[in-house]
Amino acid sequence: MTLQIRSLNQYKEVYKQSVEHPEKFWDEQAETFFWRKPYSKTLEWEFDTPSVQWFIDGKLNITENCLDRHIEDRGDQVAILWEANEPDEDSITYTYTELLAKVCQTANALKEMGIGKGDRVIFYMPMVPELAIGLLACARIGAVHSVVFAGFSAQALADRVDDAQAKAIICSDYSRRGTKMIPVKDVVDEAMNISCNSVEHVLVHKNTTQEVNWSDDVDSWWHEQVDCQEQTCPAEEMDSEDMLFILYTSGSTGKPKGVVHTCGGYMVYTCFSFRNVFQYQDGDVYWCTADIGWITGHSYIVYGPLLAGATTMMYEGVPNYPTPSRFWEICQKHKVNQFYTAPTAIRALMACGNEWIDDREMPSLKVLGSVGEPINEEAWHWYDEKVGRGKAPIVDTWWQTETGGILLTPLPGITDTKPTYASYPMPGVQPVLVNNEGELIEENNAEGLLCIKFPWPSMIRTTYGDHERCKNVYFSSFKGMYFTGDGARRDEDGRIRVIGRVDDVINVSGHRMGTAEVENAINEHPGVIESAVVGYPHDIKGQGIYAYVICQDVLDAKTMQDEICATVRKEIGPIAKPDVIQFVSGLPKTRSGKIMRRILRKIACKDEKSLGDISTLLNPDVVQEIIDTRK
Ligand code: WTA
Repeated sequence: MTLQIRSLNQYKEVYKQSVEHPEKFWDEQAETFFWRKPYSKTLEWEFDTPSVQWFIDGKLNITENCLDRHIEDRGDQVAILWEANEPDEDSITYTYTELLAKVCQTANALKEMGIGKGDRVIFYMPMVPELAIGLLACARIGAVHSVVFAGFSAQALADRVDDAQAKAIICSDYSRRGTKMIPVKDVVDEAMNISCNSVEHVLVHKNTTQEVNWSDDVDSWWHEQVDCQEQTCPAEEMDSEDMLFILYTSGSTGKPKGVVHTCGGYMVYTCFSFRNVFQYQDGDVYWCTADIGWITGHSYIVYGPLLAGATTMMYEGVPNYPTPSRFWEICQKHKVNQFYTAPTAIRALMACGNEWIDDREMPSLKVLGSVGEPINEEAWHWYDEKVGRGKAPIVDTWWQTETGGILLTPLPGITDTKPTYASYPMPGVQPVLVNNEGELIEENNAEGLLCIKFPWPSMIRTTYGDHERCKNVYFSSFKGMYFTGDGARRDEDGRIRVIGRVDDVINVSGHRMGTAEVENAINEHPGVIESAVVGYPHDIKGQGIYAYVICQDVLDAKTMQDEICATVRKEIGPIAKPDVIQFVSGLPKTRSGKIMRRILRKIACKDEKSLGDISTLLNPDVVQEIIDTRK
């Protein structure tokens, strides 16, 4: 079994070893896995190109490690426990033995469709077991999965399908989220009409009894293709550095980029981090409420837990359906031991009032996790006192799509916790703070830009189809370092608190969004001349989207705002809809024509007292106008 740290002294010792002898440390972690062929070298790296390789020449299949490896010891243990949107619907379970059989059947179906090693497959599905099964089926045959969150629009889906040149799309007929029924297959049809020329097959999982439009040329039903297949399927032999998946994420500029993760390093790191961060013990029930459309679901619903032989729960619905007690009811029903969610969910449930939680004792809870955005102090204390009753340590886990796994976190019951601090690095992780010039900030009690100076196994390898972009975004800001895009503070004892993005990325309800991406969407409206988008503090969402828009003419502000929101929904999806749209006659610009977002950010935050010198702007007068017309 992968190492599980159990004491503070051990953490300190292991951390020291992992920094002084990283290769030896990761060799020990890699040992417990099943390698078809052992690797010849642990690590080769340089951050300029960048080129990072772990477990070189090793051959493996991650599904043999997630599934086959566990059959002897825990074949009858529940691997996936699924809870439906409707509370009165029965839960579904897959034991490790059943899951392996289902994954093999699905893999055989994919093979029959002509999908093989290296082919890309897009998933556009709600949180149903078939999504996890589908990912593992791809991994079984060496196909590369790329999940698109099922809240994205047809256009956003088509963009990703085209970028990945996917051979197939796997979707559901409908998605059930609370009282809503979302026509997922219709969105896929729409995307197919926009472009998606590379797609040969659309495999449709039946989730409801509703009718869907059908095209015999490309569409087929999951149950018809999968259920008739053999229950065994040999695993494709993969190289450690073969692609496992692509996951699209937003950056400061341009369209979302495809972050690439590879087989060997991702396997070793997600398992190691899962075991340690959640202190998972045999028999525990672990629940992460994320959607598999995001990295958290990949690493800590599917791969990490299954690699560690855990029971991992998946929930189809939303936190407040049918009532704001639903999460707690599920925790009670399944005696959940580790619960992992996002601050935005905590804040939303907190806002519903304590009556939804006060009589919900959950003595099974041992560890509470937080992920995706900074957790504010009020939410931290509510989580601690109301959910954990002061008995379940909170792990505030900081990481990114690009890091593949959790890099900064307390270890529950081992290191101390401090509200709003993601605290300490995981073994093998070497975070540093630098100033704008890239000089190391050595002292404690300081703020700076968060970088990582040494590779870890699950780090991003490239951005799909555009390695230069990977280099420019992450490795060019500061020589020899991976730049996270986050600003951070280190306290007097060395704990790290991640404050938020320092680039033009905003974090809305834990969803990453590029301001440029939202601006491009707004600009698609024919009446819009120019726009600028910034984030502002939002009580529930963490950050809200504030859009300053210049239009040709605005006859009716409300109608125009609705139209702009509809345009954004169409281009990206409802998650990118602006919270505030302010019509302006101009945007503050430098003499070289660059929009001064700093000023716009301050105005959106009602912080115009500290605007600083604006006299050098091309159009200083517009600033006062924007302040005066702000809502
Ligand atoms: C932010 C999500 C503060 C951060 C796993 C990062 C956090 C971005 C935390 C990545 C945290 C994530 N405290 N900020 N515990 N966790 N972030 O790629 O700004 O969706 O850069 O990965 O979320 O978002 P992503």
